This record gives sequence, structure tokens and C-alpha cells, in this order.
Amino acid sequence: MDKFIIKGGNTLRGEVNIDAAKNAVLPIIAATILCAGKSTIKNYPMLLDVYVIIDALRSLGAKIDINRINRELIIDTSDITDSGVNSDLVRKMRGSFLIMGPMISRFGRFKISFPGGCNIGTRPIDLHLKGFKALGADINLEHGYVEVSAKKLTGAKIYLDFPSVGATENIMMAAVLASGETIIENAAEEPEIGDLANFLNKMGARITGIGTDTLKINGVKALRGISYGPIYDRIEAGTFMIAAAITKSRIKINGVNKEHIKPVVAKLTEMGIDFKFKGQGVLVDGRNELQSIDIKTMPYPGFPTDMQSQMMSLLSCVHGTSVITETIFENRFMHVVELKRMGANIKIDGRSAVIEGINKLNGAEVKATDLRAGAALILAALEAEGETEIFDIHHVDRGYVEIENKLKGIGAQIKRIKS
Ligand code: UD1
Repeated sequence: MDKFIIKGGNTLRGEVNIDAAKNAVLPIIAATILCAGKSTIKNYPMLLDVYVIIDALRSLGAKIDINRINRELIIDTSDITDSGVNSDLVRKMRGSFLIMGPMISRFGRFKISFPGGCNIGTRPIDLHLKGFKALGADINLEHGYVEVSAKKLTGAKIYLDFPSVGATENIMMAAVLASGETIIENAAEEPEIGDLANFLNKMGARITGIGTDTLKINGVKALRGISYGPIYDRIEAGTFMIAAAITKSRIKINGVNKEHIKPVVAKLTEMGIDFKFKGQGVLVDGRNELQSIDIKTMPYPGFPTDMQSQMMSLLSCVHGTSVITETIFENRFMHVVELKRMGANIKIDGRSAVIEGINKLNGAEVKATDLRAGAALILAALEAEGETEIFDIHHVDRGYVEIENKLKGIGAQIKRIKS
């Protein structure tokens, strides 16, 4: 497997461009199943996870043309059948479970193996199933498979016990062609859900309450294929903001939605980092003396769990004591052991990590244990004295487009060693 070798200590400068959001593109690709027609996804991010969901749709019978030059995916879902999806793909990536909602909506039944994904918690699917059941589906769990069937889906009122991103998306996709009105209460409000809802509405769906915790979906008879450009990746943008801060640099980031990134910018501003937003770009200045802070991950508009590990790298080298509390996933501190190899002073106490900032991290051999943990190690390596080798970077390739080239472009010393 490939590894990164990073020599720390460089100041970063220049501009970096952000790609479209992985977490918006995955459900949008799944949503193309909802009609028998052709959709075009513009400016898609060339990521491992995107290729996994493309393969999943292909295994169902979709024809997908990947145009790398124009960065367009042309997805023709006319010949999809419900004969089943390649189970390895579903086990590989939890996001592929998002095809369940569209498949039951279009075919009335579907069977899929239990989903896999990043190893950051138990990640159940009970809320997805609760929603499907409320819409009138029968659920059958057997031998590691989940089968959902419904002669007819009927609109219903569904209260989510927790604002799950995936459950909100899956239920919304199951409900768009159901008869009558569906109301999802305590729905997740992440910007990627708004983007999926906008995509569905452009296909002909009738969804209101976008961006709030109550989504209203009035079922329609049919949807049509469309052309769509997804939102920018707020987690990629946040990661580059921390790259500027951890190297005490000033860089420009292009492709940022100020509203979507607010929870991250609020905390970084509290620490002393300066931001100048203009249009869809932002100038990030991390050259000030930074303050330690406390962070609690929360559903949007709270601080995103997907930025927790990157923030921990930064706080590891900011003078003072910081506390990070992870409330979304129960096992999302695997990067702590790796950061400690680099000299970080972190203690875990249940769902909190107490970080005593040190002057400088040291280069070491470390392992990316999941996607965002890998990003955190890259950031730590940019600051560290000497060389860091990061193994298992296939996790990073799941969610960051050519991160080494983007970092090299702004002055980092990073190379990929292929194996
Ligand atoms: C999505 C994102 C992921 C992000 C996460 C939280 C995608 C492809 N992935 O993941 O990057 O870290 O949101 O912002 O968009 N839960 C249940 N029952 C369920 C579903 C979820 O208990 O049926 C729990 C999970 O175990 C977890 C919490 O809810 O503790 C949040 O999960 P959820 O919001 O569903 O995350 P994902 O959609 O898997």
C-alpha cells in the first residue's frame, strides 16, 4: 500500500482549490437511481469512495461514463434492475447503503449486505430502517443481509431519535415517490442534505424545509434525469485552514461556502486565526500566536466530527490545555496513539481528550487508521521536526482529491511512495 513521506517545517503560501463534497456526491449518485434516465454530475471529485459507489451502481446495471477531462459523470440508470448489488462494495463503504432508499422506491424491494466503512464506531442502521418501516416497508434481517420490501410506500411522520445524516438522506430518497406527505422531524441539517434535497427537487421532487430540522416531502409520480453541480467540500476546506494554522502560514482557499464552514471558522477565530472571505474564496492567516480551546463535536450547525482529528493535531502544538469531546462516534480517537508517537501530549478520558500543547511535534512512522485520522497525521507532519512516514494512506484517498499535489502546490514537502 502507498505511503506518504512528509518533511515538516515549511511555510505554506499561494492558493489551493477545493473539490466538490464527497458527502454530497455519494447520496446524489445514489439518487440518480430514482428515475430511469440520464443524469450528469458536474465537477465530481475523483475519489476512491466515489468510484466505489459508481461500481455499486454499475453492478445494478447502470451505464456510467466517467469523463475525467471535463470532470463529468454521465449516469444512465435506464437498465438498472433489482437483481442485487456486489456485496463487497457495500461492505467496503458505508455510504453505499444509501442506494437502499432509492432502490425500494423504484423497485419495491431490495436486499443488501450490512454496510462497512471507516472503523470509528458501531454505526448501526436502525434509524434508516425505522424510517423505511414508517413508510410501510417490511424489514428482514438475516445472515448479514438486510432486505426491505414494500408493495407501496406511503407518506408518514417520522421522528429521528438522533439527527443521523445517512438516515435523513435514505428516508428522504425513499419518500420522494411515496404517496402523500412525509415529515421527517429531528432531521439532520448538514449542508450535504440540503444539496441532496436541491438535487431531488431539480429532478422533480417536492421537498420543503431544506436546511431546517423538519423536512416535508410531498410524493410525486415520477422524477427525471438532470444535470447538477454539487457543493464544495467543507471538510477539505477546513483541513486546509488547519494546514495554514499549523504551519503559521497565510494561504488562499478557493471554493468555500462561508455559511457551511461557519462552525469551524468560529473555533479557529477563537484561537486567533484570521479569515478574510471574498466571494467563494478565503484568505487564512495563521501567523498569530494561537490560544488553546475546548471543542465538542455536534450535529450541524455544531462543530463537525469530521474535523475533530485535524483539530487535535493543531491543538497538540498550541500552548495551553485544550479539551476535545467527541459526541457523535464512540470510537473516534484512534489518531491519538499515532499523534503520541509524534510527541503529542494527549490523555483520553471517556469521550474526551485532554491535550497539553507542546512546542513542536517530531517526525515518526505512523499509520492512518481512518480517513480523517490520516488527514490529521498529514497536518501534524507538516508542523513536525524532521520526516514523517504515513502508512495506510488509502484511507486518505477515500476523501481527499490528490492531497499531496495540492499541498505541494502551496509549498509542502510531501511525496507519495507507491507500492
Ligand atoms: C455521515 C458522513 C460522515 C460523518 C457523519 C456525521 C457521509 C457519507 N458520511 O456519516 O462523514 O462523519 O455523517 O456527521 O455523509 N446512528 C445510529 N443509527 C442509525 C444511523 C446512525 O445510531 O441508523 C448513529 C451513528 O452510530 C453515529 C451517529 O448516529 O453515532 C451519526 O451517524 P450518521 O449521522 O448517520 O453518520 P453517517 O451518515 O454514517
